[in-house]
Amino acid sequence: MKTFLKVFAFNVAVIAFFLWVGNSIPQLRQDPPQELVLAADAPVEDFVKAGQEIFYGKGTCALCHEIGKKGERCPDIAGAGERAEARVKEERYKGKASNGAEYLVESLHEPTLYVVEGYQPSMPALGRQLSDLEMVAMVAFLQSQGGEVTVNGQTRFPKWRGEGGSAAPAAPSAAVAAPAVALSAGAPGADLVQQWGCNTCHKFDSPDRLIGPSLWDIGKRKDAHSIRESILEPDAVVTEGFPPAVMKATLDGNGFYQKVSLHDLHTLVGYLASLKGGQ
Ligand code: HEC
Ligand code: HEC
Repeated sequence: MKTFLKVFAFNVAVIAFFLWVGNSIPQLRQDPPQELVLAADAPVEDFVKAGQEIFYGKGTCALCHEIGKKGERCPDIAGAGERAEARVKEERYKGKASNGAEYLVESLHEPTLYVVEGYQPSMPALGRQLSDLEMVAMVAFLQSQGGEVTVNGQTRFPKWRGEGGSAAPAAPSAAVAAPAVALSAGAPGADLVQQWGCNTCHKFDSPDRLIGPSLWDIGKRKDAHSIRESILEPDAVVTEGFPPAVMKATLDGNGFYQKVSLHDLHTLVGYLASLKGGQ
């Protein structure tokens, strides 16, 4: 009987443990909603596929870049893998990234270090918004465009991701990364426009103009896609009667493009799209 009780208690403990694990993992994974479930030991093809999803989805890369077509504002991504290898050998690039994969990571963290000829240095630094594995996926996908995929789930880019060894932004484990996600998930759109100072230039509760146009009915005038574009690239289409460049410069200055998380960007766009002029 005693043995039975011991076994019974052990089983209860095991079941409780699995229930706990089962409940805690989906919570970590839940947010942001479309997060890819990438494991460090996933095959390289999975990383390429995941990178493609990020490119066309939450990475917002496809907002500017096309594949197989040279854009007026942004370079073609076709052949990016091959070109990355060639770039690092160029004289003007000496002393920076040492191989193609590193060049690609760098172009996401510090786009202005190498500005492609014929283009403006207008690419936002989106690198910080990707987790370590998402960055591997992004690089794998870019390399697969005309080049050889040299990264895998074990690859890390500490030079750009770790800020001189501090673990916080590049935290490799879900457990460490989760609290940051949870925190930002709590901030609703109305708080974000204050946090990033959008409300110093835009009215959200009346049609009055400040430095920028009132946004209280922006959801009636623009869809989510063009709202996202006016935030990421304010000068692509300048609203008539308003000054160009100030929004971009101010947001650059307060680190918005470097620091805003993809999740917050989604929340912000969703919030603006919901504003219909006090109706
Ligand atoms: C707001 C527009 C915009 C967005 C969004 C954007 N880019 Fe760019 N990107 C550019 C521009 C403009 C350039 C060329 C100027 C430069 O080199 O910085 C560029 C350059 C690049 C390069 C260098 C290409 C080369 O031939 O060396 C890569 C790689 C790249 N982008 C990848 C991405 C990825 C991946 C994303 C999404 C995570 C992304 N970009 C998002 C505008 C953008
Ligand atoms: C320094 C002032 C300034 C700040 C800060 C600022 N903006 Fe703007 N914004 C402008 C100006 C000026 C325009 C109109 C010119 C243009 O289209 O670039 C504009 C245009 C826009 C538009 C397009 C409006 C339309 O009627 O089509 C949107 C959307 C927008 N801003 C959102 C934001 C968000 C979101 C933030 C905060 C993350 C922000 N802005 C921060 C000045 C600012």
